[in-house]
Amino acid sequence: MYQEKIEAIKAAIAKADANTPEELESFRMEFISKKSVVGGLFAEMGKIPNEEKRAFGQLVNGVKQIAEEKFQELIEKVNQANKKSKSADIDLTLPPSNHEIGGIHPLTATRQRIIEIFERIGFNLSEGPEIEDDWHNFTALNFPENHPAREMQDTFFIEKNPDIALRTHTSSVQVRVMENQKPPIRTLSPGRVYRNEAISARAHCIFHQVEGLYVDENVGFADLKNTLYHFAKEMFGKGTKVRFRPSYFPFTEPSAEIDITCMICGGKGCNVCKGTGWVEIGGSGMVDPNVLENCGIDSKKYTGFAFGMGIERIAMLKYQIKDLRLFTENDVRFLKQFRPIL
Ligand code: PHE
Repeated sequence: MYQEKIEAIKAAIAKADANTPEELESFRMEFISKKSVVGGLFAEMGKIPNEEKRAFGQLVNGVKQIAEEKFQELIEKVNQANKKSKSADIDLTLPPSNHEIGGIHPLTATRQRIIEIFERIGFNLSEGPEIEDDWHNFTALNFPENHPAREMQDTFFIEKNPDIALRTHTSSVQVRVMENQKPPIRTLSPGRVYRNEAISARAHCIFHQVEGLYVDENVGFADLKNTLYHFAKEMFGKGTKVRFRPSYFPFTEPSAEIDITCMICGGKGCNVCKGTGWVEIGGSGMVDPNVLENCGIDSKKYTGFAFGMGIERIAMLKYQIKDLRLFTENDVRFLKQFRPIL
């Protein structure tokens, strides 16, 4: 009878367990609340014969106490478990996780370094549009209309308008600067250029150049030579030599190709310099008087020099990269090598 029932409840309490707040609540509903089995026992008091009421009451109060003690025990247990799992989230003794940080793209780094070198000797920065008109890309630079010199650079024209093209060189920016500024001019124009060429390890249809222009009274070829010599030493190291080879550009006279000693073999000859010990980094020359006049500068009073170099070419030599396509393929194995070392 009721003794057995109470024993069964006691056994159930002893067996009960809770590991989560939800299970704690179930325990409370089952054994503590008014509607629980223990609460139900008190309601039965009325049915118990008077002489047994006292004994029954004692038993019921005993179960109630056992249930409450067990409940406290379980609350404690669940709280402890909670604390442990929270502190496990922040283990201050662990070594820090390796955050991978990005690096600067080798072309950007090269461009920055070139700018830095020329800024220190008084060149400012100038930029121009990549979609250019015939005047700034060709005509003002002394490329006569229908002249074969235009074939030197395979050009992307805009369909239906042969007057507009993607600039083939940053020399278009020197025209814009000279049209808008009075000498003395000392400016550097880095930027993206386009040529309609097949993509290979050595050529791309999109690449970067940096143009330099210096216009003032009495600027001579010696100034050009010394400026580029200074640049080569700063960029590639003290022992670097510079060689000028006669060349032709419509906008400079005289014109010269700029070579530097091959840093891969140190001038001894290798497959990068094709055994010559020299590698080409760009073109240069004294600005043709026609170009100065086209831009509204008095060619009797002023002279100037200009040079243009390939940023990819310089980066390839600096970092010993053999294929120019790597710059634009975004292969992380390649780019990772340029991350700063922490
Ligand atoms: N614009 C020329 C080229 O792209 C390079 C150059 C610039 C040559 C300035 C002479 C002077 O080939």
